[in-house]
Amino acid sequence: MNDQKSVEIETRNLKKSFGGLAVLHGVDFSVRRDQVQALIGPSGSGKSTFLRCLNLLEFPDSGEILWKGTPVNYLRMRPAELSRHRRKMGMVFQHFHLFPHRTVLENVIEGPVQVLATPLRRARDEGMAILERVGLLEKASAWPEQLSGGQKQRVAIARALAMNPEVLLLDEVTSALDVEMVSGINELLTGLAASGMTMVVVTHDIGFARRVADRICFFDEGRIVESGISADLLERPESPRLLDFLSSVDGSR
Ligand SMILES: Nc1ncnc2c1ncn2[C@@H]1O[C@H](COP(=O)(O)OP(=O)(O)OP(=O)(O)O)[C@@H](O)[C@H]1O
Ligand SMILES: [Mg+2]
Repeated sequence: MNDQKSVEIETRNLKKSFGGLAVLHGVDFSVRRDQVQALIGPSGSGKSTFLRCLNLLEFPDSGEILWKGTPVNYLRMRPAELSRHRRKMGMVFQHFHLFPHRTVLENVIEGPVQVLATPLRRARDEGMAILERVGLLEKASAWPEQLSGGQKQRVAIARALAMNPEVLLLDEVTSALDVEMVSGINELLTGLAASGMTMVVVTHDIGFARRVADRICFFDEGRIVESGISADLLERPESPRLLDFLSSVDGSR
């Protein structure tokens, strides 16, 4: 699916260590426009670190990052170039990181107003449209503490969308939620995927990965051990590590 579309972001032989601990051992990855790639794998295998390297919240030690085919010179970037790179990708985390003393709408328009210099009125109109899209229009003037976990995560997703990113990076965005909130967020993400949003989704929810993602990459010990079309990879895993992992998360195998 989407194999004809252009590559948005790509890495080649990406490596990252923290002190003496090698965390990424040379990751080759790409995501095409309108494609959804899920990253799965055991805890500590480097999924979050890899996601953070994509938008340079973390700097790789070596290897290439290419944005639409152009190498990103991450070791010699000026601050303005760095923030331009980061703005291309919206990131949503497990914990929501909302501003507690701002209303829902203020949280959503903070980036457009402060970073993109969008005029306040336009930012508010666009912010309301995004809140409608994520199903939170009636909470526009609520405070974060008045929201459920699922609603807070919707605000975090709205805030990322408000920056009009070309790629959305999502790191276990349902892991901190009560189970009854999870399906609503998954539905929202499925809708975003269907609307053509390019996404890289780290998840422990294999069923969701299968439903939402065109392709899945299996991380293990800092490497992508296996990747492929979602259903193929899950139904016919080739490496013993992936087989083990799938058995450990799904007792029915
Ligand atoms: N800032 C850091 N400083 C030192 N070590 C780190 C740092 N961030 C991550 N690590 C280490 O890097 C390894 C990979 O962590 P990472 O968070 O990328 O794994 P993960 O696959 O996202 O795991 P999980 O599924 O539990 O979220 C772990 O051993 C972790 O302890
Ligand atoms: Mg993680």
